[in-house]
Amino acid sequence: MSFSKIANATGASVTLKLNAEAARMRAAGDPVIHLGGGEPKSLAPAAAIAAGIAMLETGEIRYTPAAGTPAMRDAIIAYTEQFYGRKVERTNVMASAGAKQAIMVGLIALVDPGDEVVFPVPYWVSYPDMTRLTGGVPVPVRAADGSFQPTLDEMTAAITPRTRVVLLNSPSNPSGKVFDGDWLRGLIRYCEERDIFVMMDDIYHRLVFDGRPVVHCYECTDRSVDDAKLIVLNGVSKQYAMTGFRIGWAVGPADLIKVMANIQSHQSGGPCSLSQRAAVAAIEGAQGSVADLCGTLEHNRDELMTLLADIPGLKADVPEGTFYCFADFRDFDSDSTRLAARLLDKIQVVTVPGVEFGMEGFLRLSYCGPVEDVREGARRIKWLLDENDTPELRAGEKVFTR
Ligand SMILES: Cc1ncc(COP(=O)(O)O)c(C=O)c1O
Repeated sequence: MSFSKIANATGASVTLKLNAEAARMRAAGDPVIHLGGGEPKSLAPAAAIAAGIAMLETGEIRYTPAAGTPAMRDAIIAYTEQFYGRKVERTNVMASAGAKQAIMVGLIALVDPGDEVVFPVPYWVSYPDMTRLTGGVPVPVRAADGSFQPTLDEMTAAITPRTRVVLLNSPSNPSGKVFDGDWLRGLIRYCEERDIFVMMDDIYHRLVFDGRPVVHCYECTDRSVDDAKLIVLNGVSKQYAMTGFRIGWAVGPADLIKVMANIQSHQSGGPCSLSQRAAVAAIEGAQGSVADLCGTLEHNRDELMTLLADIPGLKADVPEGTFYCFADFRDFDSDSTRLAARLLDKIQVVTVPGVEFGMEGFLRLSYCGPVEDVREGARRIKWLLDENDTPELRAGEKVFTR
């Protein structure tokens, strides 16, 4: 069968593939430890569930405007005022089926075939494929010093007359790095002068540890939301543990949001009305669950970092936010796909190969699951990597051998 060039250039999402494999092994009774996941295990806020149930009971589950219901857009407006200090209008906001779709529609609105989309390495796995889906060219920018944040000079050196978008995610999946405020200010100014859009993927912006302040993009410009070359992407998936509801949003200049809503109207229509209602309730309701989640993740991070520090040869920066640690395993294997496969095969621990994020020799370890899983995963990894350790490792009924 023959497919389009775009279809042939698009791979399956590696993380989704790993989730499927872990589920298959668990169903077969294997004691799999999943350090590859991308979703908090806490429940959606009670207010969101109650609002969803109440709406479902009416039986009136209908189409909504392509950009989202008025209530959804008002909730995004309130959110933007609270967290970004900017008063925006309904014309500045659009709800989507997850931040993923908001990013995709934003890219379709801005990128022509051959245009370039610049992002730092390590990057979220979907950015290169999303760029290619528009016919654009992904331009990953690598820090010469091997760190998780290229310098401002390295970023600007990658910008050419074909650059249409700079795509940033802070705190970052996979590194957990919060980008430095002066760096962000410099980059946004540089892009403003050249009419290049900066897309800020802020999906983890409330999952930040140690009380660390996060400089947001509107602090980096004097322009109004309509004049700034900024799009903010966000959603309920991570902060409210509502991944399956599929609600995200974009905030940006009214002209651009209008075009994005037009595209979305043909592509998928407005996001699920039931999910919008639940998302509004989550945004407008008590926010205790976000603080609780953040506290749990910070505790899990601390546990993981302590255990990883006990593995000689393994290097890991302390993540400043998200629920991922991007650890350097090059002393053990320079091929992250091979190493991840070995961890799955030998000790049934799921990780994500760093090469998928543009950095070979690293593995992404998620700590969004139960802390017992984080501990057990680290225990198994330490055992496997230390060849002088015992020939066998027991995990409940299961005995792993080298
Ligand atoms: C960096 C980043 N952006 C966007 C998304 C997508 O979020 P959503 O579930 O809202 O589509 C994810 C999900 O893993 C992510 O890690």
